[in-house]
Amino acid sequence: MSEISFDQMSEQDAALELERLAKLIAYHDERYHGKDQPEISDADYDALKRRNEAIEKLYPQLIRADSPSRKIGSVPAAGFTQVTHARAMLSLDNAFSDEDVGDFVGSVYRFLGRLPDNSIAFTAEPKIDGLSLSLRYEGRKLVTAATRGDGTTGENVTANILTIKEIPQTLPASAPDIVEVRGEVYMAKSDFLALNEQMAAEGKQTYVNPRNTAAGSLRQLDPKVTASRKLRFFAYACGEMSVMPAQTQSGMVTLFQEWGFCTNPLTKRLTSIEAIIAHYNHIGLERAQLDYDIDGVVYKVDDLKLQERLGFRSRSPRWAIAHKFPAEQATTILRGIDIQVGRTGVLTPVARLTPITVGGVVVTNATLHNEDYIKGIGQKGEPLREGRDIRIGDTVIVQRAGDVIPQIVDVVLSERPSDSVPFEFEHQCPVCKSHAVREEGEAAWRCTGGLICEAQAVERIRHFVSRNAFDIEGLGEKQVEFFFHAEDKNLKIRTPADIFTLEKRQSQSLLKKLEHIEGFGAVSVKKLYAAINERREIALSRFLFGLGIRHVGEVSAKRIARGYGSYQAFAESVKAAQAPREGVKGDKGNEAWQELTNIEGIGQIVAEAIVEFYHEPHNIEVLDALLAEVTPLDEAAPVASGSPVEGKVIVFTGSLEKMSRDEAKAMADRYGAKVAGSVSKKTDLVVAGPGAGSKLAKAQELGIEVIDEDAWFVLVGEA
Ligand code: IVH
Repeated sequence: MSEISFDQMSEQDAALELERLAKLIAYHDERYHGKDQPEISDADYDALKRRNEAIEKLYPQLIRADSPSRKIGSVPAAGFTQVTHARAMLSLDNAFSDEDVGDFVGSVYRFLGRLPDNSIAFTAEPKIDGLSLSLRYEGRKLVTAATRGDGTTGENVTANILTIKEIPQTLPASAPDIVEVRGEVYMAKSDFLALNEQMAAEGKQTYVNPRNTAAGSLRQLDPKVTASRKLRFFAYACGEMSVMPAQTQSGMVTLFQEWGFCTNPLTKRLTSIEAIIAHYNHIGLERAQLDYDIDGVVYKVDDLKLQERLGFRSRSPRWAIAHKFPAEQATTILRGIDIQVGRTGVLTPVARLTPITVGGVVVTNATLHNEDYIKGIGQKGEPLREGRDIRIGDTVIVQRAGDVIPQIVDVVLSERPSDSVPFEFEHQCPVCKSHAVREEGEAAWRCTGGLICEAQAVERIRHFVSRNAFDIEGLGEKQVEFFFHAEDKNLKIRTPADIFTLEKRQSQSLLKKLEHIEGFGAVSVKKLYAAINERREIALSRFLFGLGIRHVGEVSAKRIARGYGSYQAFAESVKAAQAPREGVKGDKGNEAWQELTNIEGIGQIVAEAIVEFYHEPHNIEVLDALLAEVTPLDEAAPVASGSPVEGKVIVFTGSLEKMSRDEAKAMADRYGAKVAGSVSKKTDLVVAGPGAGSKLAKAQELGIEVIDEDAWFVLVGEA
């Protein structure tokens, strides 16, 4: 269709043209996001949007309710139901060097206590760069297939999985009644290339890499589309099983094969660190020849009983690790450096780059960490990159490793423009203009704007709604920005409580405004409200993490939640807590302070940050408003009730002989007990090994029950 030029355009023409563009852009949005099959190039799409905006500028009175310029982000893929995993799907810790692998193997031996060298076997297999999937069979029939999602709940993609030939839909009679097979869905490199060739031949946009294509193919609402893409599957782990049909990881993999699954042929069972590293190197050499992308090698403790003893940290198992291949690098030009403000005020320099493909992914931004990093100074003052600084205009080496944020690792000095100047890091917040400070021992400059800094406030809300905190779907980065800066006071979200009052602040007319202006559409507005209302009751740990208290990460939040059990108990105690006075010898703070720091992993720094947070009147105001809307749920102990030590506070002291200190803690955790670092009136039980000293004496003085390691095993029923 020929396009009318602007100067010939009457108001009527303009109205018609805006209508045409709105429809056309909506159509291409749907092709791109909804169907994963764009028809026009990104550049052509951008040109349409620019034309729309230019006309809107000339005739602001004609801006349509459904204008493409008013849309935020893409519509989330609707239509998949959620599946709660019977057993969480966790991620893996990473090792980047042989030394890290040695540390991992060492930690397994240490955790399990005294075992002779080379007595623990490990499996080593490629880490497939795909998407993890959990397949659930009941009565030997495939009943659900779910993506990993956030690890606890994923998307139900069963209809799509049924189209994958490599996945058996029934299991042989010998398989247990309930079986969960976990593994990786991926697209072979050859199938990916063929698909792209076909797309190009049809004049369609090609795909970026096999992983994203596999992801897009799996998340199709129409299983016919999934069926038309060749997806494959490697089985490598199990989830829930009604009976364990094997004793070892390698035995399990053999069974998977017998049941008809593909398993990776490069899987090996090995016992020494040297053999493990040799296999890693071997797989590294094979890597380019393989018909699928891999990004490392996964090592797992072979014995499933030992796996169980080793258990999990918050997000990953202690019995496995991913040994990553070295990162991929590319060179490009550094166009500019922006300063980003984090929720605690940290100023992070971000590199804006001429777009470049690094290992199959287009990179436009990379982190520059902090001021010293740009200057070529390391954390301990040592020179980085032999002291080379990084300047705007430089040719830089960008590195991307796995899912981590890309970084600039070096500059090519020979390419440096002759007129370049060193970068000057302004010691001022780019948003609220407050001055920045750099605390001793810290690399970061921090905006001192605190509660007045809008950038920090936005980041705090983004953190609050993020996946591992309140996890409110529909409040992404753009939506948070929109609500934060909304002019209408009934649309504004300035503090967490505002999120929960949004719905009741809406008059019908405002609701209409939101539906249209925001491009949310009536359905999405309803969905957003539903997502918000679902979080009016929330796990205490998520609540605490969401507050964004400095130094309180997910792990500390969990520990605090377990330690206090209820929000009331926590808040009252923390408000009463007094830290030890500086310079006063022997001052240990008051009892509430002791209670806080007795929690495993909560040291002086974290405790101080928490107490400080609760001493700031504004924070209390914000919290009270939030608590009027939201109820943090008491944290239940994770173990089945009836454990004899459930809810008890236990101190381990002296040397332990049958288990390591870490295993003791993990065991207590498993049985619902709390482990404390020091003995106080609150201690219920002390487990003392040989050589116990002052803690034992204190326990005796306070009349607390003391048992030895053997009695501990008897007590928890593991003797
Ligand atoms: S084992 C409890 N084995 O890597 C951990 N994971 O970074 C069970 N992955 O989410 C995972 N290849 O999607 C395992 N051979 C392999 C793997 C593998 C790829 C993925 C998986 C997992 C992620 C963790």
